[in-house]
Amino acid sequence: MDKLIVHGGATLRGTINISGSKNASLPILAASLLTPEPCIIRHVPDVSDTNYMIQILSAMGADVERSSGTVRITCETISDQAPYELVRRMRASICVMGPLLARKGRAVVSLPGGCVIGDRPVDLHLRGLEALGAKVEFEGGNITLTAKDGLRGAEINLCGTHGPTVLGTDNVMMAATLADGMTIIESAAAEPEVLDLANFLNAMGANIQGAGTQRIVIEGVKELHGIEHTVIPDRIEAGTFMVAAAIAGEGVTLCRVCRDHLKAITDAIEQSGHYVQFNASGDVCTVRRNGHARGVDLVTAPYPGFPTDMQAQMTALLATTPDVSIIKDTIFPQRFMHCAELKRMGADIKVDHGTAVVRGIPQLSAAPVMASDLRASAALVLAALTAKGSTEIIRLYHIDRGYEHIDEKLLMLGANVERVKER
Ligand code: EPZ
Repeated sequence: MDKLIVHGGATLRGTINISGSKNASLPILAASLLTPEPCIIRHVPDVSDTNYMIQILSAMGADVERSSGTVRITCETISDQAPYELVRRMRASICVMGPLLARKGRAVVSLPGGCVIGDRPVDLHLRGLEALGAKVEFEGGNITLTAKDGLRGAEINLCGTHGPTVLGTDNVMMAATLADGMTIIESAAAEPEVLDLANFLNAMGANIQGAGTQRIVIEGVKELHGIEHTVIPDRIEAGTFMVAAAIAGEGVTLCRVCRDHLKAITDAIEQSGHYVQFNASGDVCTVRRNGHARGVDLVTAPYPGFPTDMQAQMTALLATTPDVSIIKDTIFPQRFMHCAELKRMGADIKVDHGTAVVRGIPQLSAAPVMASDLRASAALVLAALTAKGSTEIIRLYHIDRGYEHIDEKLLMLGANVERVKER
């Protein structure tokens, strides 16, 4: 297991490219199951989550070629069963369920494991697929969905106790593309990654209206064909580097971003007193730290609200912002594993019932800390950038799940980091 050593104190400056979105790539790769024709998908980030998805699809019979960020995938003859061992290791692989059911009339997918940010139920996914006519059974840790007479359109509400479901919306939308008749999804997730998937599906010949809003209407079609598509930029990677610049930067420029997807993140960074500037076309932004920062109160919400995937990173910034900040995660109330590790570095944070009260201190101190999940790990790297001394972050595989070459990008910006390969 690799570890990262971050020597605190370097000032970040310079320019990097933001990679394609992991959270758009995963359902789009799964959507290739819907056609026997080749799909070419560009800007797929080289991270372990996308590698897992490619392994799963290959194990199911897909023919996959990958050259740098471009994946060419052909699902001509595929099994209706996803490999148990691989699926259970990555929750997001649940999004093969909808396309597999639509293409084969049957789908066997392992129940996804929970994870440190929450128990990650799939009841909303199953509610939607059952409404389309699927029969749902559980056996041996697998979910088995069957629709012998095919799927038929339905009116479905996908709102749960914590709001909409992103991958649940993806699963139902993908299944509905080949259903007989019209499907209406109320309380759909409106994330940009859902819209990117819908654009991919419509280019394949689907008939989807309203993606990117909370009401999506899908008119089923007989078949879908292969296409070429470029994945949208990763707004959470962009947000992570924007926060890095707010913590330790005197002019960090990020290329290949999308301003429209970054509004809530930009607002939070500007409210805490730092400078964010976009170019006219909104695909390049420059962030600069301001010495007179102030605390902010944040509440995570479904898009276009402040994303839960940026909550840990903002906590790292506010831990050294001389003020009191209150951060509430309404989507994953348990998503505060990073706080215990930040407290090892001297942070003053109290977590209670899904809310963290952060009292900023002038400087954190290096300590051996442990990554626990993807975004919590990123928060530890950010906190270490200005900590006194050298911080050692173990279990780096958590970070490698969703950040493409994060150490190389930080080095390009002048950070003093080194990846140590553990035998
Ligand atoms: C997606 O996960 C993202 N992952 C997550 O990003 C992100 O945190 C999450 O959406 C919320 O924005 C990918 O897109 C691959 P949800 P997803 O279903 O779709 C509850 C990262 O860091 N819920 O939108 O699995 C659930 O417990 C990852 O990149 C149900 O109750 O999340 C949560 O409280 C982490 N029943 C809320 O809904 C269900 O059937 C939102 O979850 C499904 C979800």
